Amino acid sequence: MQCLANKRILLGITGGVAAYKSAELVRRLQDQGAEVRVVMTRGSQQFITPLTLQALSGHPVSTDLLDPAAEAAMGHIELARWAELVLVAPATADFMARLAHGHAGDLLTTLCLATDARVMLAPAMNQAMWSNPATQRNQEVLRGQGVALLGPAVGLQACGDNGPGRMLEVPELVDGVCRAFPEPVLNGKRVMITAGPTREALDPVRYLSNHSSGKMGFALAEAASHAGAEVVLVSGPTSLPCPAGVTRIDVESAQSMLEAVHQRVIDCDLFIACAAVADYRPATVQEHKIKKSVDTDDDALQLTLVRNPDIVASVAALKQRPFVVGFAAETRDVLSYAADKRMRKGLDLIVANDVSDTEIGFNSDDNAVTVLGENLEQSFAQVSKQSLSHSLITLFAQQLDAKTTK
Ligand code: PMT
Repeated sequence: MQCLANKRILLGITGGVAAYKSAELVRRLQDQGAEVRVVMTRGSQQFITPLTLQALSGHPVSTDLLDPAAEAAMGHIELARWAELVLVAPATADFMARLAHGHAGDLLTTLCLATDARVMLAPAMNQAMWSNPATQRNQEVLRGQGVALLGPAVGLQACGDNGPGRMLEVPELVDGVCRAFPEPVLNGKRVMITAGPTREALDPVRYLSNHSSGKMGFALAEAASHAGAEVVLVSGPTSLPCPAGVTRIDVESAQSMLEAVHQRVIDCDLFIACAAVADYRPATVQEHKIKKSVDTDDDALQLTLVRNPDIVASVAALKQRPFVVGFAAETRDVLSYAADKRMRKGLDLIVANDVSDTEIGFNSDDNAVTVLGENLEQSFAQVSKQSLSHSLITLFAQQLDAKTTK
């Protein structure tokens, strides 16, 4: 199925070496059914010619804000209104800076300001330029304005450096654009998602926690929201920005996560427990900082831990309960441990995640999982957590529908 059938995509190309990939990008967007029009900055024309993009897109390429001939054909405001999505790929550091500050000194920045359509950027630059605090500030500003960033990827760069700043590959960009036009599979549904780690206090300055970054849970929240759901995200401590349109409730400990969940879960159709909740917490939280023992030779410190409440199992045990999906983070015998957890906790589905592989577990950008249900075992190969979330949400919605129409 073509995910961009009849969608009108405006592709902006700025002056980076990755511009050579934009020709292929036009073709792959068209393969998905999109109509593509191209706008090029002056810098991009040093890397690839407008003639190439005109031949591929089948439309004249716009390059100049003050070109009477181009304005007579399709003026910049008409072009901004025509677009259902603007994708700038590659987006240079300079372009991001100008867009973040509302400049409209050329055709592409003007279009981005004038359009009501979603704007997506595929950053492409040297790793030091990407890591520079100015670029990092600009990307924060852009995200805050609702601009979506696809990438950048980490890897070898044209200049010989290695690090973050490479433009995503064309299939990943097409996938990102497709995700901007999701099927409204959760329209009218209420979804609650837990994400991130919990922190279990030992004393006023120390806690027990784990390596969950929240990336998987936040990506699920964004995908569920794009699929039409009203989403509440109950999150442990993370540094991630809240996805647009999602209601976020910040918590610290397992106990506070449990309370936040039960305050609102009763109205929900779907509950997804992605958080890495600490199974145990210190039996007592010391009022003052625990001091190193100086008057004994004993180097050991004994801590007594007590079991935390099981949040997902408590939701699954409710009389009036939502469709419940858990995650299982395992390092061996992944599927059998996950299947056992699903049964013990009374879950509809469980997502088995092999966290022994650092590329697909805690704090990684990618994931690969297997979803287990009563008569279901479906595997998803390694992709970005955003892309995986889109597929998982589609599956959860199907399974939820199947259960409610049973
Ligand atoms: O956040 P990221 O860095 O992106 O990493 C994602 C992830 C690895 C955290 C995620 O994909 C994942 O696997 N989450 C589940 C982590 C976990 O705690 O797994 P578990 O097998 O210990 O727990 C099983 C299920 O019970 C989970 O749904 C968990 O949320 C839930 N649980 C566990 C303990 C508890 N006291 N209450 C719970 O609700």
